[in-house]
Amino acid sequence: MQSADTPITPLIAGNWKMNRLPSEAQAWLRDLLARLEADADRGSRSELLLCVPFTHLAGMSELAFGTPVGIGAQDVSRHEAGAYTGEVSAPMLADLGVRYVIVGHSERREYHAEDDATVNAKAQRALAHGLTPIVCVGERQAERDAGRAVEVVLGQLAGALEGLEPGSAERLVVAYEPVWAIGTGRTATADDAQEMCAAVRGALRERYPAFGARVRVLYGGSMKPSNAAELLAKPDVNGGLIGGASLEIDDLLAIERATA
Ligand code: PGA
Repeated sequence: MQSADTPITPLIAGNWKMNRLPSEAQAWLRDLLARLEADADRGSRSELLLCVPFTHLAGMSELAFGTPVGIGAQDVSRHEAGAYTGEVSAPMLADLGVRYVIVGHSERREYHAEDDATVNAKAQRALAHGLTPIVCVGERQAERDAGRAVEVVLGQLAGALEGLEPGSAERLVVAYEPVWAIGTGRTATADDAQEMCAAVRGALRERYPAFGARVRVLYGGSMKPSNAAELLAKPDVNGGLIGGASLEIDDLLAIERATA
């Protein structure tokens, strides 16, 4: 177990969403790995992760095995196994060597009507199978305008974490992603991101006094090379969940370098 003063290793997590074909993803990953290998002073300043579509997981996990790049999924079924056509279970992901899974992304909440109870069930299922859930929370524009951003986000967080077993919750990751900043090119200011991530951190410390201070809290929403350094310099922003910019190696590496 890390001590309270061990610095947190930032997590730079790409979210490819429904982009790129499995066949081109292999070549892309080979290029990324070659670039990382050539970067002698990269060290281990951050952890790199790519959350890719289900169809890409087997091939990319195999290629990434033993490298500094982790491969994660973008969703998981809340059920263990059985008659759930089209769903993919946590044991299936774990069996492929996948270690991370995004749960409760705002696009799942919006287009697939996922509520906090569903997000909670998915997080529980992921943890039970040794996966790390990246729990996404974030307010809409109207909620921010009404001064309810913190209340909404902490409500989502409480719903997602309800009843999680503290032993396994220790490896949890939380991503603060304001809905109005996702895929829009609009980013939260670094101060707003810090304020929200600090509120998340406060709730985590309260819920998990033994380790809440060390749970990684990411910012997501139009993070890109031009704004990454400022966002990642904030004390409660421990990395990024990056959509559009994670599809280009140059951009992803530039963001990763911004954690140095
Ligand atoms: P974006 O997506 O970086 O393209 O805004 C972030 C996300 O949805 O995780």
